[in-house]
Amino acid sequence: MGNKWQALKDHHAGIQDRPILSLFDQPDRAHRFSARAAAMLFDYSKTNIDDTAKRLLIELAEVSGVAEKRAAMFGGAKINDTEGRAVLHTALRAPEGVQVMVDGADVVPAIHATLARMGAFAEDVRQGRFTGQGGAITDVINIGIGGSDLGPAMATLALAPYHDGPRVHYVSNVDGAHVADVVKGLDPTTTLVIVASKTFTTIETMTNAETARKWMAAKVANPAAQFAAVSTAADKTAAFGIDASRVFGFEDWVGGRYSMWGPIGLALMLAVGPDGFEDFLAGGRDMDERFLSEPFEENLPVLLALVGIWHNQICGFTTRAVLPYDQRLSRLPAYLQQLEMESNGKSVAMDGSALPTHSGPVVWGEPGTNGQHAFYQLIHQGTRVVPCEFLVAKRGHEPDLAHQHLLLVSNCLAQSEALMRGRSLAEATAIMAKKGLTGDELDRQARHRVFPGNRPSTTLAYPKLTPFTLGQIIALYEHRVFVEGVILGLNSYDQWGVELGKELALALQPMLEGRQSAASKDGSTRALLDYMTTSAA
Ligand code: F6P
Repeated sequence: MGNKWQALKDHHAGIQDRPILSLFDQPDRAHRFSARAAAMLFDYSKTNIDDTAKRLLIELAEVSGVAEKRAAMFGGAKINDTEGRAVLHTALRAPEGVQVMVDGADVVPAIHATLARMGAFAEDVRQGRFTGQGGAITDVINIGIGGSDLGPAMATLALAPYHDGPRVHYVSNVDGAHVADVVKGLDPTTTLVIVASKTFTTIETMTNAETARKWMAAKVANPAAQFAAVSTAADKTAAFGIDASRVFGFEDWVGGRYSMWGPIGLALMLAVGPDGFEDFLAGGRDMDERFLSEPFEENLPVLLALVGIWHNQICGFTTRAVLPYDQRLSRLPAYLQQLEMESNGKSVAMDGSALPTHSGPVVWGEPGTNGQHAFYQLIHQGTRVVPCEFLVAKRGHEPDLAHQHLLLVSNCLAQSEALMRGRSLAEATAIMAKKGLTGDELDRQARHRVFPGNRPSTTLAYPKLTPFTLGQIIALYEHRVFVEGVILGLNSYDQWGVELGKELALALQPMLEGRQSAASKDGSTRALLDYMTTSAA
């Protein structure tokens, strides 16, 4: 495998200064360096990937064992081997009748039984058969964090045009400001609280759940009756006092950041209804089938991963901007930060040896066109190259605002064009000369208006952000993470890197409360503790 990495690096060294624009001398480049998944189009022609790079990248995926590991994952093998678990979020969207075996048992029937229970409960709430003490449920608060929040929160926002249930709110941060701001103005007697936590031990979630229970207890005789839970830990949900009829379980082979397809998606289901949720699952299933069957050259998750490997590990670009020209995908970058960085932000290979390459990139972003008026300056003229990933729908949901959608799309296409094309000093000089500048001042002013160009981007275009399309997009990104993880040789499904901070936070609590000496702490931490605990304002 080492020689594939080297071959890619050697190839890159020879072409790194070549203008991407020159690749379009090949008339069918846009067609040959793009792929479709049904009506969805992934265009990666505005990158410096050429035929040789593409061939080498695909060979890298092949020798890394992507196909074999893909079969192992879908088949229920325990590929999360630092935790001894299978990785089966795909089973959450598997159709009835398909068999997925874990430890000798088919897990699909239980998944569908839980989905049916979720559907029945969601419909009871939506139709007013399940009520609060003050009447039909008007508001739902999902209390969770990380994978128990980001997925459903992102999707609830994304699918706003499909909401026909109660209003759904999300509380995640242990900062009391979050829960306080969300409950302000809500009526506890008509609010349902979902405590969503895979482990049911996460301190932020359990603290917020207690706060919500107290808030409700002030107005509701039996607050537990207006609580539901989503967890793998039935004993703990029972200890919290939530009736088993409102507890929706899942298994430990569903990773937190991959869990929105099952019970963790309950709040989303309440918002869009069981049918809308089923469309979302169908979109994910559609992408699974494509991922399993398409040749690598046309396989969207594989191609997204290979473009990622090219930019990060081969070209050395350390971050990637995700730029949805779709306001309702405004939480997609945050969701992807967990999905990608918690999965592939690691320094150790499967066998415990140091990773020979860099791990996954920093992922960040904001929706267009907002970002254009903020950080795009750096993307266009900064000294570092930031590969950009644009997402855009052909149509919006507001037919009477179609002119705004056209503006949105033209801005999206303009940005990828500008990044690639740039503006030379000669062009900038001509523009400024037309404005009447001459001599040194013309030269000085023109230099500020140069765009280096040759900055890579990809565009994922889709017909409309429906539940089905959203399901396709999320499954696409999940599989991209899988493929990148396999190529990097790491375990994408554990997250040991979050543990140390949690342990230290627990240890700091008694010091903040003044119950324990901070003498063991470093000078900086002691000084900060001192600042936090002294009475002066
Ligand atoms: O601390 C990280 C993490 O374990 C994530 O992986 C997970 O999504 C999140 O915390 C929440 O965990 P839980 O669902 O168990 O509350």
